[in-house]
Amino acid sequence: MEKQQQLYEGKAKRIYQTSEPGVLWVTYKDDATAFNGEKKDTLEGKARLNNEISTLIFTHLNEKGLQSHFIRRLSDTEQLVRQVEIVPLEVVVRNVVAGSMAKRLGIEEGTPLVEPIVEFYYKDDALGDPLITEDHVYLLEAATAEEVESLKIQAKKVNELLVELFAGIGVRLVDFKLEFGRTNEGKLLLADEISPDTCRLWDIKTNQKLDKDLFRRNLGNLQDGYQEILTRLGGQ
Ligand code: C5P
Repeated sequence: MEKQQQLYEGKAKRIYQTSEPGVLWVTYKDDATAFNGEKKDTLEGKARLNNEISTLIFTHLNEKGLQSHFIRRLSDTEQLVRQVEIVPLEVVVRNVVAGSMAKRLGIEEGTPLVEPIVEFYYKDDALGDPLITEDHVYLLEAATAEEVESLKIQAKKVNELLVELFAGIGVRLVDFKLEFGRTNEGKLLLADEISPDTCRLWDIKTNQKLDKDLFRRNLGNLQDGYQEILTRLGGQ
């Protein structure tokens, strides 16, 4: 397998074509951004931590019967994934009120939700990835009604599996963001990454934040928090 031309460069990853059709090569970057790119930094070691954590999480989901684009880890900072056409939606699942939801609705951060809540955000940097309703999803032709149902079912399944996984290592899964893509056969497959960049993870006993809020809110060393998650998940 060979890495070929770069197809895309995002805020945290680069995607390359490979010699095998339908298989992409992902390289994680040490760059951290927040607030739609307004806050930026390079944090040495972040690429490795997210690649390792995302690998462990996607492997766990796969073992539990939930398929994703993930094929295999290649190196400290690289992995192979299946090529999909990314749905322009960020699917956020929340178990505890935090972040933008706390701000938008005036509910105190840390308030537990009786049932998980699923939200859709429209992936558009120029618009600042706005929260949208299901009707907006159809208006924007971002997904069909059938796909929205599938996104909700898959997002809730990922939530169940990850709440349990993190509870087992003394971590509360507060919320997280998922992305999905369409395969050639038109099936929706979980894609992108699942890491402390895309989840809020609080220590169950101390409420210490072990996720990207460390960077967003200048709460401490990001790499220390991510390393703690990796170590507790059984990685190095
Ligand atoms: O900012 P907000 O509270 O809406 O974020 C909800 C969850 O989605 C958080 O875990 C955050 O890390 C994640 N997220 C993300 N990428 C974005 C927006 C949010 O990973 N562009």
